[in-house]
Amino acid sequence: MANSELIVWISLLCLTSLSLCYGWIDINPIKFVKEELSKQRPSNSLTRTSYGLDTHATTGYLAVHTSPQDGLKVKDKIESLLGQPPGVKFDQYSGYVTVDPEAGRALFYYFVESPHNSSSKPLVLWLNGGPGCSSFGAGAMMELGPFRVNKDGKTLFQNEYAWNIDANIIFLESPAGVGFSYSNTTSDYSLSGDNRTAQDSYTFLINWLERFPEYKTREFFIAGESYAGHYIPQLAQVILHHNKYANRTVINLRGIAMGNAYIDYETTIKGAVDFYWTHALMADEIYHGLTSNCDFTTLNTSDNVCSDFVNQATNAAGNIYSYDIYAPLCNSSLKLHSEIANSGKINGLWGDKPLTVLPIIQELMDRGIRVWIYSRQIICSGDTDGALPVTCSRYAIKKLGTPVRTTWFPWYTQGEVGGYAVGFENLTFVTVRGAGHFVPSYQPARALVLFSSFLNGKLPPPA
Ligand SMILES: *[C@@H]1O[C@H](CO)[C@@H](O)[C@H](O)[C@H]1NC(C)=O
Ligand SMILES: *[C@@H]1O[C@H](CO)[C@@H](O)[C@H](O)[C@H]1NC(C)=O
Ligand SMILES: *[C@@H]1O[C@H](CO)[C@@H](O)[C@H](O)[C@H]1NC(C)=O
Ligand SMILES: *[C@@H]1O[C@H](CO)[C@@H](O)[C@H](O)[C@H]1NC(C)=O
Ligand SMILES: *[C@@H]1O[C@H](CO)[C@@H](O)[C@H](O)[C@H]1NC(C)=O
Ligand SMILES: *[C@@H]1O[C@H](CO)[C@@H](O)[C@H](O)[C@H]1NC(C)=O
Ligand SMILES: *[C@@H]1O[C@H](CO)[C@@H](O)[C@H](O)[C@H]1NC(C)=O
Repeated sequence: MANSELIVWISLLCLTSLSLCYGWIDINPIKFVKEELSKQRPSNSLTRTSYGLDTHATTGYLAVHTSPQDGLKVKDKIESLLGQPPGVKFDQYSGYVTVDPEAGRALFYYFVESPHNSSSKPLVLWLNGGPGCSSFGAGAMMELGPFRVNKDGKTLFQNEYAWNIDANIIFLESPAGVGFSYSNTTSDYSLSGDNRTAQDSYTFLINWLERFPEYKTREFFIAGESYAGHYIPQLAQVILHHNKYANRTVINLRGIAMGNAYIDYETTIKGAVDFYWTHALMADEIYHGLTSNCDFTTLNTSDNVCSDFVNQATNAAGNIYSYDIYAPLCNSSLKLHSEIANSGKINGLWGDKPLTVLPIIQELMDRGIRVWIYSRQIICSGDTDGALPVTCSRYAIKKLGTPVRTTWFPWYTQGEVGGYAVGFENLTFVTVRGAGHFVPSYQPARALVLFSSFLNGKLPPPA
């Protein structure tokens, strides 16, 4: 699969996973494998494992743009959102942080404090994936934010399981070009990639902490989903590198949590191929052909035997929708079509994107950063969603080879099984039962228990 096409495929999750029917385009992951194998690309951008200061090895010091932030916090205060219900008991802010004054590049954030004891609660940065998925539109307004949009499209209601019950949360639109984040230098968009995203997000944080200095020493966590499985470990690594310099704000990074995350190309493809086979969407011969001939640890464009099986697999499932393989075809699909075109613009320009971030995750584990990987459960029970299924996360963790410390157990909330959990050495894996790709949208109560457990560094409740 084209790494870029894989990204398009994953980013579509942010646009289409709540639809009940699908358009004329079959977003089949196997098709993307085929397209990828038809392209040549430089291998150096596929193997990168360092997002720190490697390019400045002589001093190890990398300058970061900072500008005065005085008075901006007050300006960013939101009196009330349009259509907001009465009785809101927490403060909200939104605004821009300039990350590159020469290019005129600025990132947009929406920040919600906790309604109770916000000054003793941790600070969490939330990142949606894509690339191209808005953390405000998806994360804040559809998933874990304090409000949801009513059916009238104009008014809001409070989300009773909002994650700001337990933390103060920044929703960051990243990188520039996504949501309200922008650059005044249009050519900047063609430089988008994992490295720039990580560096810009760090610059954002350093300046944001000057704007909100009371958060400078607060316990800090990063959470997000999907392609943020790349953003999060890379940003965490950049933070740890910069933290070595005492003349800089030291970010009190404690942990990262990644949901339905894209962290490793090989295990993602393996998970998708297995899903297709176990759901009777490809012939046994094709499955065995793929598993015994294809090496998805690299992008080998000259392997004709593998390519041949990929070609066969491409059409084997027919025109179905991989996010909901039993969904009916929509009569009117123009909306879906234009959304694909838009997300393709952002993704088509994407630069560096390593095939795996597992070495970075391992480095974070070694350095005592709490690492949680969570996944919706629906796939395990043989359900309908073929994109980033739970098997991908399990294969990826297996590849890390970290030993089990607390064996697999069902966890409970409200008297029901909320999902399953495994405590590995330096890593926790949790599933949320009955959740779709947007875990907090489908299972808000269970997702909040998961989030609290993560912040507390405790496995979810076994009873
Ligand atoms: C981008 O350009 C507009 C219009 O000139 C300006 O108001 C804005 O401050 C610029 N943004 C940045 C981040 O420099
Ligand atoms: C706020 O913090 C105080 C002191 O730590 C504690 O007694 C109180 O229960 C907390 N309130 C809430 C709503 O969490
Ligand atoms: C990563 O981004 C930083 C900051 O923009 C830049 O200095 C560095 O050269 C980039 N590294 C690579 C390998 O592109
Ligand atoms: C911060 O420290 C680094 C490394 O010691 C040094 O190179 C840099 O000039 C210092 N920056 C400032 C603004 O003092
Ligand atoms: C790519 O596949 C060809 C044909 O199977 C094989 O000879 C070659 O060694 C492979 N290259 C890599 C880098 O794995
Ligand atoms: C789709 O459209 C056709 C004709 O335009 C109509 O007969 C059919 O009932 C529609 N199907 C659905 C599920 O709306
Ligand atoms: C866990 O972290 C410790 C250091 O904090 C490290 O020594 C150990 O190798 C790590 N284990 C695994 C399996 O990652």
